[in-house]
Amino acid sequence: MSAYKILLVEDECDDREALNDALIDLGYSVVVAEDGIDALVKIKRMRFNLIITDFQMPKMNGIELLREVKGAGSDVPVVFISGHSTVETSVEAMRLGALDFFLKPVSIEAIKEIIEKVLERETDRTKVSGVSQDRYRLVTKDQNMTQLMDLAKTIASSKASVLIQGDSGTGKELFARLIHKNSPRCSKPFVAVNCAALPDGLLESELFGHEKGAFTGAISRKLGKFELAQGGTILLDEITEMALHLQAKLLRVLQEEEIDRVGGNKPVSTDVRIIATTNQNIETAIKEKSFREDLYYRLNVIPLKIPPLKDRGDDVIVLAEYFIEKYNRIDGRSVKGLTDTAIQLLKSMYWRGNVRELENVIERAVLLCKGKFIEEEDLFITEKPKTETAQKKSSMPLGSLREMEKQLIFNALDQTNGNRTHAAKILGINVRTLRNKLNEYRDQMKILT
Ligand SMILES: Nc1ncnc2c1ncn2[C@@H]1O[C@H](COP(=O)(O)OP(=O)(O)OP(=O)(O)O)[C@@H](O)[C@H]1O
Ligand SMILES: [Mg+2]
Repeated sequence: MSAYKILLVEDECDDREALNDALIDLGYSVVVAEDGIDALVKIKRMRFNLIITDFQMPKMNGIELLREVKGAGSDVPVVFISGHSTVETSVEAMRLGALDFFLKPVSIEAIKEIIEKVLERETDRTKVSGVSQDRYRLVTKDQNMTQLMDLAKTIASSKASVLIQGDSGTGKELFARLIHKNSPRCSKPFVAVNCAALPDGLLESELFGHEKGAFTGAISRKLGKFELAQGGTILLDEITEMALHLQAKLLRVLQEEEIDRVGGNKPVSTDVRIIATTNQNIETAIKEKSFREDLYYRLNVIPLKIPPLKDRGDDVIVLAEYFIEKYNRIDGRSVKGLTDTAIQLLKSMYWRGNVRELENVIERAVLLCKGKFIEEEDLFITEKPKTETAQKKSSMPLGSLREMEKQLIFNALDQTNGNRTHAAKILGINVRTLRNKLNEYRDQMKILT
């Protein structure tokens, strides 16, 4: 059986079993989940090479699952299967970073094709020298950021807790890794836990572990992340999402340096440095009594506030060039840079999703760019430039997304003189998906004429 691990998320028993059997027949190792919540629990425990998920499911649908997975910083590819898709849902899925979208009944040939594509890409990634060691590199030429990095390195040697605040995608996790890497703990584990990704009960046993028989389903003792991080660093992401009773337990860990496993009867001593992050306003959470003030003071021994990308001067371009190089290597392209108008557009944006959003834009542009330089239209930015209204939450009309997708597909077909296989390759989608979409457009035309 291949070491390649797939998570199959499907609430309908018959569909789940059929696809599971087919994937096993192909030689893959498969873990099944019955809904999005179940999937998140499994994702926390294991690393998957691919997630195949149904779209409509109780508790948490496929899009919500994708949001959680990407929000937790995971780059695992996600493929959707759906009984009743609309162009809007498939575009929304693609926009959030899904790899492909299939309509039920799913042909196993199509699934096999996509798995092979993902495998190929993974092999390429590991073959490309430097990519893995570059993975956590913090790139900046901005003076404030450089000072913050120097500060992070200086405080790395102590065991004091650090609270990193900053908007989503600003690089909080990279800062946490920088501190760990420069600390005397660097040869010990760095363990990250996203406090928002698990329900309270599960988070407690995830952090502190449990004894055999502590609750139904606790068939054996499980070590928590604190014990797994022994001697190293634990990153508690999105700390403000932690329930109050767990905050009390965490406070005890900070004060006593020991943890209580769920169902355990004696504390276990720990030696772990705690780094917490939040993209919420923690002072407001304290005022609203959803975050303990005493815990805040314990965590905030060393505060680091990461500025949003829009306040980092020319970093937008410095980072864009860094990402062009990165994706040139990964995708085997040789894009030389950005045209002046593309630079102006990047500089004029608000970048609500900060560096993560910029990276996604550049990754796509490198893949789709026809010439040597990335042009304004290769960026596919539909959001308005930095204005007061642009600061409000974006609400891109689905109609325009639909148009954008159509335009992307026609551009790719133009570029390949109508060769669907090549066009699908450029778009990074399955040729079957491309065919389905073209059929949809044709049907729409029929309705209009
Ligand atoms: N200065 C930087 N240089 C290079 N890559 C960066 C930089 N800042 C962020 N990134 C990249 O942007 C993405 C988001 O970074 P990271 O996960 O550290 O952000 P975050 O602040 O923890 O986000 P969130 O609040 O959503 O958890 C990652 O892929 C990271 O590698
Ligand atoms: Mg993060």
